[in-house]
Amino acid sequence: MPPEPHASEELVLAFLAEAGDEFVSGEAISDKLGLTRAAVWKHVEALRAQGYRIDAMPARGYRLAAVPDRLTPLEIRPLLNTHDLGQVLHWYEEIGSTSDRAKELAEDGAEHGEVVIAEAQTAGRGRRGRVWVSPPRKNLYFSVVLRPDLPPSRAPELTLVASLALCDALRQAGVAAGIKWPNDVLASGRKIAGVLTELAAEPDRVHWVVVGAGVNVNARREDFPEELREEATSVLIERGQPAPRALLAAACFTALEDWLDRHAEEGFAPIREAWRSRSVTLGREVVVDEGGRRLSGVAEDIDDAGALLVRGPAGLERVLAGDVTLVRPR
Ligand code: BTN
Repeated sequence: MPPEPHASEELVLAFLAEAGDEFVSGEAISDKLGLTRAAVWKHVEALRAQGYRIDAMPARGYRLAAVPDRLTPLEIRPLLNTHDLGQVLHWYEEIGSTSDRAKELAEDGAEHGEVVIAEAQTAGRGRRGRVWVSPPRKNLYFSVVLRPDLPPSRAPELTLVASLALCDALRQAGVAAGIKWPNDVLASGRKIAGVLTELAAEPDRVHWVVVGAGVNVNARREDFPEELREEATSVLIERGQPAPRALLAAACFTALEDWLDRHAEEGFAPIREAWRSRSVTLGREVVVDEGGRRLSGVAEDIDDAGALLVRGPAGLERVLAGDVTLVRPR
């Protein structure tokens, strides 16, 4: 785990960013921030070591020339307007799985809203033990520790809350995203993001929930293994231009917190309504694989617990978990 950035390092960066294209003197920075000139220089060096390009000119001072496309707290924190979510951010250049790390942190007492985020995963996991392809510095891989006041029976609602939030953040980024029950976010009929929800609970009380999210941001078609190239997409592929990952991460955290707050205050009803309006599943012919049993029919609705209601040969059936294939993707 890298050390948390020094608070004054964040301030130096913010000061330089504020000045835009202008040079600012070392003296002005040290006066404003109450640091010695030597400390300013040390922070500038530390920022450079993390990939920030900072020009220095005698008599003129420093100028921020380029920022790295990284997901460090230095990049994400200034973009956040959340009260909890992402305020504590554990960043890794590479990790096995952010969800495994978040589960360890949750067991060790991590607070509601702490986030583990990584530039790459070597053992990224999807639902049903699938691999989540996680190449370095292309996409978003993060996991959020939640401590909701919910009985375990209502925890599946959080998967729908999270997919709704990712869908909204992607729409804000200009991607025409929709949600496929229960946890997939699609664009142009291909998967752009997914949610993996894991929890520890007693019969009547959730201890913690870890919501893991993968969002394909700047991956090109060739970054996906061949067998996924027809099934997966990214913001870059959809928009034809890359997206700043830190900005998208901050948008995901904000959307997630907004919907979680709404869920905590008003229950599942507003989530259900918003989810329906973004669904690419409802009204469609589907095949549901419930891990053994296959059910064909038309996906009619989700109920007030988030279960999918499918009208099949034997009438209306309630699906609590499974993989949905859209028979004729739009
Ligand atoms: C799915 O669609 O099957 C769920 C994919 C979830 C992937 C994310 S990436 C961050 C977090 N860490 C993991 O190992 N998995 C989740």
